[in-house]
Amino acid sequence: MILEEKIILITGSTDGIGYQTAIELAKSGYHVIVHGRNREKAELALKNIKKKINNSKLSSVYADLRSFTEIKEMVNDVCDRFDRLDVLINNAGVYKSERSITQEGLEETFAVNYVAPFLLTNLLLDLLKKGKSGRIVNVASRVHSNNFDLDNLQLENGYTGVKAYANSKTALILFTYLLTDKLKNTNISVNCLHPGVINTKLLRSAFGSHGASLIDGAKTLIFAAIAPELENVSGKYFVNNRSQSSKTITYNKDIQKMLWKKTEELIKMEFTEL
Ligand SMILES: NC(=O)c1ccc[n+]([C@@H]2O[C@H](COP(=O)([O-])OP(=O)(O)OC[C@H]3O[C@@H](n4cnc5c(N)ncnc54)[C@H](OP(=O)(O)O)[C@@H]3O)[C@@H](O)[C@H]2O)c1
Repeated sequence: MILEEKIILITGSTDGIGYQTAIELAKSGYHVIVHGRNREKAELALKNIKKKINNSKLSSVYADLRSFTEIKEMVNDVCDRFDRLDVLINNAGVYKSERSITQEGLEETFAVNYVAPFLLTNLLLDLLKKGKSGRIVNVASRVHSNNFDLDNLQLENGYTGVKAYANSKTALILFTYLLTDKLKNTNISVNCLHPGVINTKLLRSAFGSHGASLIDGAKTLIFAAIAPELENVSGKYFVNNRSQSSKTITYNKDIQKMLWKKTEELIKMEFTEL
């Protein structure tokens, strides 16, 4: 039983936690927009969800989040097809044990886990403002760190998969908190979360371990996306549906602002007019 119609875009919902979140939200009757890295994957995930669930309000979009061009094309597509967006869940993520570089010259983990949500979110803000109360949910991780070097964001020096992953999630949390301040006079809230240690291909490839079920993994995303008690709650880091403190560095306003500036330089766009 849902209280109101909500349109919810979930990045990386062709697999893992995002896919399960899409299934659960679709089951509850929400209009879920499934996102995949390309058209085939997005359409296949949508078809599989439709086979399981009787919900006519499901759609798909696609973009390889390593590409600024594809992100912008997807935003145009979303803006053409929908008159508002109620929830954006930035869930897609990667773990790369070897350092790799995107076509635009960014380290891939940093590009997908942090720069893509930064760009996508900023480009979708106007559409989120058209809803009654927009929500942005950033899927971070407890694997984030106080060792965050603004002069080595792309880990040109000392790359390891874990460092790159923690670095990207620290950046995502820093972004969440500064965006909270920038959006304080709007109807949009923004929160981040750790979904738990969940049995997905990302976890298996990164840490070789097997975690809890996908249903467990989807719980905190669903809570942050739709829980009525979170209306007007912004700037939180949730673990197991409870607000917790993230690492000290993530609350540092100077670092948040410097990171924002550096990110704008990387993507060659400015989002100062919030
Ligand atoms: N699993 C855990 O224990 C855990 C713990 C903390 C945080 N997280 C976070 O939870 C989120 C979901 O991860 P997961 O564990 O569910 O992993 P997953 O099963 O590997 O799912 C990741 C999703 O992101 C998509 N994706 C990756 N790179 C992409 C790109 N370049 N363009 C578009 N989509 C891309 C994947 O698409 P493909 O299938 O096509 O690659 C997939 O749909 C991530 O942000 C992860 O960091 C997970």
